[in-house]
Amino acid sequence: MPIITPELAIEYLEKKNVVSIPTETVYGLAADATSDQAVAKIYALKNRPQFNPLIIHVASIETVQEWAYVSKFSIELMEEFWIKRHASISFVLQLKNNHPLSLLALAGLETVAVRRPNHPIALNILNHLSFPLAAPSANQSNTLSTTKADHVLKSLGDIPVVDGGICEVGLESTILDITNDEMKILRLGAVTENDLKPFGKVQLAYHGDAIKAPGMLKRHYAPKIPLRMNILEKEPKMALLGFGDCPGADLNLSISGNLNEAAANLFNYLHQLDNTSFSSIGVNPIPNEGVGQAINDRLNRACEG
Ligand code: TXA
Ligand code: MG
Repeated sequence: MPIITPELAIEYLEKKNVVSIPTETVYGLAADATSDQAVAKIYALKNRPQFNPLIIHVASIETVQEWAYVSKFSIELMEEFWIKRHASISFVLQLKNNHPLSLLALAGLETVAVRRPNHPIALNILNHLSFPLAAPSANQSNTLSTTKADHVLKSLGDIPVVDGGICEVGLESTILDITNDEMKILRLGAVTENDLKPFGKVQLAYHGDAIKAPGMLKRHYAPKIPLRMNILEKEPKMALLGFGDCPGADLNLSISGNLNEAAANLFNYLHQLDNTSFSSIGVNPIPNEGVGQAINDRLNRACEG
């Protein structure tokens, strides 16, 4: 298995190669964000449409200030969510004219999505590099994100992976557009609307804002077999994914009904049920509150044909 150490990952990344690295949300497929040549390898491996920009990963707010406009309000949010709360959130900012980032990674936009991953291995790697990392989720485009090293290998083949165990959060980061100091959620994640409200008015734009979040194609997080939501009872050949008390479930996202636990298990369990002799996956109703909203968002997308 092509599992490599963080030290070797740093060498590969310096040589403009791609490496899958663990983050607290999902595994990322990382490459030098300032190199078109390195970034092109990400798009090729993932089979990703080139109009879909990548999130740029950094270890510090100072790095972002070098090439993006960072207002007082942006700094306040970054300090609060990245540094104090270690939360999983990406911010969309306006780029400065002379930024060093690969235009391919930005898909031609004048804005950039930045994120400080809350994972010791990812931060250690970033701290040893002189450039930021472009890193989409480490999976074939339009398939499930990966939360374990062996999911990555199954989805992308024999690529170098740094194994950091299971991702704690399990859902991709919340994406918040703050380009004009107004908050607009482009993708739901573990950071919710309620977490952001104390900082001002929050708009929700994750249902079909095509220009702002080009990657939010409807069918995006799909297993290979059909998925149905709000299913209480198993049908023939159906895999039942439970939540809370559900004795007939094949797997249970959280027997105690804990939404954070359910988020962390979601992609892992969908991967497992997608690889058996089942013909569909039915999922118990998930309460639409807190991180449950992000779980239902991913499930909704997986249902769209
Ligand atoms: O948790 C995460 O965010 C993971 C880990 C690996 O960090 N990354 C991830 O990347 O989910 P990806 O490429 O699968 O999703 C990135 C999303 C896409 O929907 C893309 O369209 C959006 O971010 N995006 C990137 N740059 C953007 C920008 N300038 N404006 C709006 N949306 C942007
Ligand atoms: Mg993705």
